Amino acid sequence: MIYFDSAATTFQKPPAVEAAMVEALRTMSSPGRGGYSAAMRAADAAFDCRSELAELYGLKNPEQVVFTMNATHALNIAIKTLVPPGGRAVISGYEHNAVTRPLEALGAQVTAVSSPLFQQTAAVERFAQLIDGGVDAVICSHVSNVFGFIQPVEAVADLCRRRGVPLIVDDSQAAGVLPLDMEALGAAFVAMPGHKGLYGPQGTGVLLCGADVRPRTLLEGGTGSFSIRQEMPDFLPDRLEAGTHNMPGIAGLLEGVRYVRRRGVEEICRRERRLAQMAAEELRVLPGVTVFARPDLHAQAGVLSFTVRDREVEELGVELAERGIAVRAGLHCAPLAHRSAGTLESGTVRLSFSDFNTPEEVSRMVSAMAEILH
Ligand code: ALA
Repeated sequence: MIYFDSAATTFQKPPAVEAAMVEALRTMSSPGRGGYSAAMRAADAAFDCRSELAELYGLKNPEQVVFTMNATHALNIAIKTLVPPGGRAVISGYEHNAVTRPLEALGAQVTAVSSPLFQQTAAVERFAQLIDGGVDAVICSHVSNVFGFIQPVEAVADLCRRRGVPLIVDDSQAAGVLPLDMEALGAAFVAMPGHKGLYGPQGTGVLLCGADVRPRTLLEGGTGSFSIRQEMPDFLPDRLEAGTHNMPGIAGLLEGVRYVRRRGVEEICRRERRLAQMAAEELRVLPGVTVFARPDLHAQAGVLSFTVRDREVEELGVELAERGIAVRAGLHCAPLAHRSAGTLESGTVRLSFSDFNTPEEVSRMVSAMAEILH
């Protein structure tokens, strides 16, 4: 299989990820639940994973790194901490349902920034018009899961700091691909999955918490700390980590993050963008194809959407699957992003790359598309 659906989940993982998961099953119990060796091994792996992530994101204190089930779980904690029922949120025009559905459930008044694809300056100008002191939270994804649009999160963070409004960054498509300095950013929260660009397994996610926030709990339960008290601990990470940890997942994530740090996010990004650029150039000459990319891939990471005149995107996805090529077609759980880009009616076929893809795979996908459109 040629796998171009890494924006959903990276499929090829560094071999050390699987080995660490098997080793965790054999050797680890639960962190913070005992002084015996299996519990201590689990505690060490969890601490090492927090430390690697803290270093990757420029956080001094690894305890501000909280493990979650996925990015959706992390975003729910962040959003429900900052936005009260009926509160106000300003969000980018490229947010995922993991942001918009929790806001809907809160009955929040949501203003989405309408800015054209790949136009970072326009996005900053629109955010500047919309953020005022009465906004409960600004939410911005670093990279659009549909179009790979790199949003200007640093500039948005600067606006938020100056106007005293907390910022949540959805780093789902950027983690492991673009650098981010959490302390320089001053964001209240940064949420991400472990199973995409960090090469961990499904069922892992991460919430980075700003030093000054007191997160609201989504779950209450055992933490192995202050067991006599009935309220959840007020310190991190225990406050947000009720119940038994996913230790095989965390041990796998640790190796995934180590891989990313050894390779370097800049190098991984360069490789994925090269593949996206190659795919864009070769697909755009096929009959009826519209590729959503500027010629130089300006403001775009290794995610590429396209449509074909008079063809259903889902049907194209099936035809590619029949030829052994995995892509995601449709709305990608992000109708807002499609509305902003003008593709809500059609959806798109999305190609999303990882560090394990090759130019030969791109050539084979382009040949398959040429055959499908023949
Ligand atoms: N949000 C993920 C995607 O874009 C699952 O496919």
